[in-house]
Amino acid sequence: MDKKEILLINGGGPLRGEVIISGAKNSALPILAACVLGTEEIILDGVPDLKDVEIMIEVLRHLGSKVEYIGDESLRIDSSGINTCETPFELMDKMRASFVVMGPLLSRFKEAHTKAPGGCNIGARPIDLHLKGFEALGAKALVNDEAISITTDGELIGNEIYLDFPSVGATQNIMMAATLAKGETIIENAAKEPEIVDLASFLSKMGAKIKGAGTSTIVVDGVEKLTGTRHTIIPDRIEAASYMLAAVMTKGDVTIKNVIGSHIRPVIAKLIEMGASVEEIEEEDIIKVSANQKLKPTNIQTLPYPGFPTDAQAQFMALMTVCDGESKIQETVFENRFMHVEQLNKMGAAIATSGNRATIVGVDKLHGADVKATDLRAGAALVMAGLTASGQTRISDIYHIDRGYSKLVEKFTKLGGDIKRVTID
Ligand code: UD1
Repeated sequence: MDKKEILLINGGGPLRGEVIISGAKNSALPILAACVLGTEEIILDGVPDLKDVEIMIEVLRHLGSKVEYIGDESLRIDSSGINTCETPFELMDKMRASFVVMGPLLSRFKEAHTKAPGGCNIGARPIDLHLKGFEALGAKALVNDEAISITTDGELIGNEIYLDFPSVGATQNIMMAATLAKGETIIENAAKEPEIVDLASFLSKMGAKIKGAGTSTIVVDGVEKLTGTRHTIIPDRIEAASYMLAAVMTKGDVTIKNVIGSHIRPVIAKLIEMGASVEEIEEEDIIKVSANQKLKPTNIQTLPYPGFPTDAQAQFMALMTVCDGESKIQETVFENRFMHVEQLNKMGAAIATSGNRATIVGVDKLHGADVKATDLRAGAALVMAGLTASGQTRISDIYHIDRGYSKLVEKFTKLGGDIKRVTID
């Protein structure tokens, strides 16, 4: 049998100390893709050490960009030698977010492709809004079981695009496609996430003309070419939220460093409402969070930014399992984002679901169990539950967690958590 890695956690006392948040995964990925747009050297700082970032670097190298580490978290990227506009389907399949390289490729080379050998139903992914945007700029999209090909005979021409839903990926892809298009592109009902703003500020440093990022109307005035630059990725608001929640769930006291409070307002507001202590030191990008008693239950509904982030839903659910009463969650951004429920229930949680709604009745204590990380944020929720539970928790399929949490074992160990990565048969 193949060897596999698991996380072994012995639940224990409160987490205490300091944790430094890494650069945002969801900013690093589109910004790496954006590097395809220019022919001059780019330096990125604050790049988190993550599996998803490795995959995006693989995508860039496959296309012909030179990518090298010049420090622990700093990359030098030179995309002057790009020699193909086709991303292998294996890479797209490993990470859906690689699709965000299509907009930059289309903008610079007038074509972008991905192909699946033997057919893998690649058209089934929800990319309709991305395609709608590309088509509005004058591109043709071919999507079938074997390929997605976006091409244009002439130049991309700026246009007005209304997104039916403020999709993060579609906003990024269209914004990047528009940077080298002719004339003005207006994206209406655009996503407003901080990662959109970070991407726009990076593109602007490259010479792009972008207004309104962070609002629901983004205007891109096409330019002829983009230049080199240096940029630091913003802190990961979801990683920060995860450590804040783990701190209060274990009745601990943790100082979170490199966090921008305004990016996680709903998380802070909910924690205060539930009875946690949250102290922001804005000028130093620090948040201190603690709790010394069971928290009160609450209700949350996930929404596009600035609403409550879907990426913190699973972790909040973990916290609610040990609150003093009944909490409710409504997930409105993604379908099927309750896979962690079954796993948390294995640890003694009392969660019932109906469609996109969950009811969580707080229990006295969770107990350790053998559980599976069903996706990235579900994995983080199980780590939190394991650190709080009595006894030992073994989490399998931890590759999901490695996609988005940089040095998770080291960070929790430093806070006093008993957590180890072990290889088993
Ligand atoms: C990004 C984040 C992800 C986060 C999500 C929502 C990255 C790499 N990932 O994902 O962590 O959970 O935003 O905050 O930044 N949709 C369509 N058609 C489309 C595109 C999306 O129907 O063309 C739907 C999706 O199925 C989903 C919803 O819109 O139900 C939100 O998706 P979107 O905002 O695009 O999320 P991602 O960019 O994939």
